[in-house]
Amino acid sequence: MKIIHIVGARPNFMKAAPAIAALHKRGLKQTIIHTGQHYDKNMSEVFFQELCIPLPDINLGVGSGSHAVQTAQIMIKFEEVVLKETPDLVVVYGDINSTAAAALVCAKLGIRLAHVEAGLRSRDRSMPEEINRLVVDQLADLLFTPSQDGDENLKREGIASEKIHFVGNLMIDTLVRQLPHAKRPDFKFALGKYVLVTLHRPSNVDEPIMLEKLMKTVDEASREILVIFPIHPRTRQRLASINYKPTTSNLQLIDPVGYLEFLALQRDATAVVTDSGGIQEETTYLGVPCLTVRENTERPITVEVGTNMLVGQDMCRLKKELSSILSGHAKKGQIPLLWDGMAGERVADIISKLK
Ligand code: UD1
Ligand code: UDP
Repeated sequence: MKIIHIVGARPNFMKAAPAIAALHKRGLKQTIIHTGQHYDKNMSEVFFQELCIPLPDINLGVGSGSHAVQTAQIMIKFEEVVLKETPDLVVVYGDINSTAAAALVCAKLGIRLAHVEAGLRSRDRSMPEEINRLVVDQLADLLFTPSQDGDENLKREGIASEKIHFVGNLMIDTLVRQLPHAKRPDFKFALGKYVLVTLHRPSNVDEPIMLEKLMKTVDEASREILVIFPIHPRTRQRLASINYKPTTSNLQLIDPVGYLEFLALQRDATAVVTDSGGIQEETTYLGVPCLTVRENTERPITVEVGTNMLVGQDMCRLKKELSSILSGHAKKGQIPLLWDGMAGERVADIISKLK
């Protein structure tokens, strides 16, 4: 059987690594296609090195663009590859534009499609990722869910039960494997207690008024505790366009860091403030309190079972919950079912039995 994996942006790499490794163990022939959606060294290449992912066989080199331009370019270039390679199965990950573009190509060419991280729903169609999730799950033949809410969402949307496989969380497989190798970055500043911040959702960073409100809150927090903020390229651009400068060196705006460094930063943080999908999950596994600056989440299990709390876009709520954590009243959580480091093996078992 010939398998193609499609990856394109930072959160794909942690999800693909365990599936590729587990399929390799079973002797299956695999091709890795990078769409080029993310291209900076610290948004892509670094993860291939750290997570020992074989280098992509092909990079489609699409780069950045509007949703339609990016999606369409991936479709045009990926179709050529599929016609040449004639895979038996294409595996897509998560909810980014690369995932949806590849899924559409496969569906039109009648190529079997597997979706890792199926079934997640925020029920917020203003999120580009929610549109991608809905499209991909309608088209996929094999749907691998990270939590049982995913199975319920899919069944409610009329997806046949035999296509749905609750396998657990592949992003957590990578965390389990790499946690012993986590290493703090070499900072020029002293690292005592700190809050770790990441923000990149268009709903938080593309609107200057919201971004200014958020930065004011983060800046205020840094008067009480060191704040470390590795800045996503989208956010870096938006901060430049509002000419933002921190008022104190206790707010450290740094470039995105590698996975092993970011893992150590999460593990040792007093709290994490984020709008990332993957970071809601990783903090839940690590038992680190997480405040999510969003009105909803497609990962409700991190709130119901884990350490995550949604504070919405309400800055008073963010300040209140952050000071409650800093004064020692952090939410405790547990690790969700099948977030056990073996999800990639379950995926590979199912794929290797395909006729
Ligand atoms: C994308 C995903 C989002 C995911 C995020 C992970 C979609 C619709 N969005 O958002 O779901 O959470 O990746 O990080 O697929 N840029 C660079 N260098 C890079 C990549 C991007 O400078 O290597 C800049 C470009 O100016 C680009 C902007 O960041 O226009 C946004 O990149 P894009 O991939 O379109 O969306 P993300 O916000 O990264
Ligand atoms: N991450 C990283 N370096 C950073 C920030 C995040 O390695 O500077 C990792 C993080 O540990 C997680 C993934 O990137 O594994 C999350 O990606 P991101 O937040 O970009 O996307 P999302 O999960 O929101 O789609």
